Amino acid sequence: MTNDNPVAAHYGRHSLFDEIAAALAGVGVDIEQAGPKDLTPLDHFHGGGVTATEELADALSVTADHHILDIGCGIGGPARYMAQRFGCRVTGIDLTPEFCDVARRLTKITGLADRVDIHEGSATDLPFPDAHFDGAYSQNVSMNIADSARLHSEAFRVLRPGGFFALSEIAVADPDATITYPVPWSADGIHSYLESVEDTVRSLTDTGFEVLSSKDNSARTVKFYAAQREKIARDGPPKTGVHIIMGADYREKQRNSALNITEGRLKPVEILCRKPV
Ligand SMILES: C[S@@+](CC[C@H](N)C(=O)[O-])C[C@H]1O[C@@H](n2cnc3c(N)ncnc32)[C@H](O)[C@@H]1O
Repeated sequence: MTNDNPVAAHYGRHSLFDEIAAALAGVGVDIEQAGPKDLTPLDHFHGGGVTATEELADALSVTADHHILDIGCGIGGPARYMAQRFGCRVTGIDLTPEFCDVARRLTKITGLADRVDIHEGSATDLPFPDAHFDGAYSQNVSMNIADSARLHSEAFRVLRPGGFFALSEIAVADPDATITYPVPWSADGIHSYLESVEDTVRSLTDTGFEVLSSKDNSARTVKFYAAQREKIARDGPPKTGVHIIMGADYREKQRNSALNITEGRLKPVEILCRKPV
């Protein structure tokens, strides 16, 4: 596995599976016997963690006969969550080879490989036929994508008419503000492509989507980070958590994420769209 792509190089570490196994062993769980609940603290790699995935799922109408797409699936926590909750099929695609490898291994270990499959590839060049999926979602991925119009048009292309597209992302709240880095998706601002909600909604609409709603998740995300800080102050650093994926500077990344939101520079949003029938 090589990481020629700089975004994949930012995220990927060959040792990730072993690091997760060591963290789980620290709480008495053998990774080869891990269930979805053992992984929940560490496999939802976005502000709000599994709660954000639950809320996203609450907003979607997914049924067991659906086949849905997770664009930028990371190590696969949200894809496994959707497959378990709805009994549907989920295909995940991600740019980072090491994440795809860990996602496949954890999916097999948790017994979900018959319903969740993972592809390595790019959101801007999806290796799937037209009108293939009943729905698609993408959580905290677009901030790494320079050509967001292409992300939107590829999602549109692979959806059947009537299919949903749910986009969770960090949007620019103040266009004049200087973002504080590092953040989870960028060490220093390189390969960080942020846009306003208005620009995203315009692009989605231009693509052909019907935009159904746009929700500002700032308050929920700030509360999530504050609760994490309080827990660390009370109990010490967690033994398992997304910090394992984020790497050594996770504290700074999480602190800056919270500060960028509380100080009005960025805001997490969730935009729900539908491909017209
Ligand atoms: C912050 S993580 C979120 C992972 C996952 N969506 C989650 O919420 O657990 C961002 C992910 O986007 C992926 N990514 C970034 N740019 C991408 C692209 N052009 N195509 C596919 N995946 C991409 C990264 O490899 C990484 O796994």
